[in-house]
Amino acid sequence: MAALKLIDPYNRHLNYLRISITDRCNLKCIYCVPRHLIPRLPHTEILKYEEILRIVRIGVKLGITKIRVTGGEPLVRKGVYEFLHRLSLIEGLTDLSLTTNGVTLKDNLGKIKAAGIRRINISLDTLNRKKYEQITGVDLFDRIWQGIEKAMEMGFHPIKLNVVALNGINDDELTDMARLSFDYPLHIRFIEYMPIGESQMGNGPLLLAPEIKKRICSALGQLIAVRNSVNDGPAQRYRFEGAIGEVGFIHALSHHFCDRCNRLRLTASGQLRPCLLSDRHEDLKGPLRNGCSDEQLAEIFLKAVRHKPSDHNLAAGNSLRVNGRMSAIGG
Ligand code: GTP
Ligand code: 5AD
Repeated sequence: MAALKLIDPYNRHLNYLRISITDRCNLKCIYCVPRHLIPRLPHTEILKYEEILRIVRIGVKLGITKIRVTGGEPLVRKGVYEFLHRLSLIEGLTDLSLTTNGVTLKDNLGKIKAAGIRRINISLDTLNRKKYEQITGVDLFDRIWQGIEKAMEMGFHPIKLNVVALNGINDDELTDMARLSFDYPLHIRFIEYMPIGESQMGNGPLLLAPEIKKRICSALGQLIAVRNSVNDGPAQRYRFEGAIGEVGFIHALSHHFCDRCNRLRLTASGQLRPCLLSDRHEDLKGPLRNGCSDEQLAEIFLKAVRHKPSDHNLAAGNSLRVNGRMSAIGG
């Protein structure tokens, strides 16, 4: 198996596996969940930790070196800290990180650190308490911010704040958010909203990275490009002169980064998805529960990789119907 590698037909080397460990979340962000109630996956449909660990060990033998744990909200799943610890012990992984909404972060940072995680990405779309409640459905801004401050004190680095740019909702705050990079060692990343699946967003014009960049630069000065490093995800990195933090842009729509996509996704229900923006997937859970060997599971990884689309056709002005929900795929 060691000789086989995750290289797709377009010569992209896939070394980054994003794992959604649950579709459950303690927030109801307007850009992620629909207004009506959505059924949660039953427990039996969700991969057990033991099953995920087996899949990861196979992935690592095939060349996965970077893992990000996502959700839903990953920290709501029982046993998550022990799971993260076991994940961190898998030999061959060089980068293990977490994307969280920060709701339970403040009191659990010690456990996250003990589990071997040094860098975290936190969703935070506004600095305004009322607006935070409007976007997420709960009045928890202060708690999230306290978690971010404590994470900085405890030496997590980098801490990346994910800001989904929402026209008419947080567009008046983008400069304030970028300004945080002068005072804190944070990476503020502006993400173009991807109109996929169901959500509470209308079909209005989208706020794209070039416009965000223009606005923040006219207020804060010129951005200096920061060279990408090996384990970087899709963000284009910059900093302002004199800033201790960074600013980044994730141009999912205005400038596809498919040509350098190095990602595979394992969903909470055990599907391997070669592209966030396509419903194409391979089922790992069924074969795994039916007694497949590691070699057979590795073959499923390779099949997913052979079918990774060259690019997605989501662009500003069109919307994609992807059946999987963001909360079960993990962003
Ligand atoms: P780093 O490893 O820290 O660079 O993380 P990341 O940016 O890969 O992960 P994060 O979970 O913070 O995701 C940030 C944003 O990037 C989210 O909105 C994701 O949906 C988006 N994103 C991540 N991977 C892809 C991708 O393959 N395609 C698209 N279109 N968006 C992606
Ligand atoms: N478009 C762009 N980003 C999204 N996220 C969730 N839904 C969307 C969407 N429709 C982001 C969250 C989280 C990250 C994993 O994905 O803000 O930080």
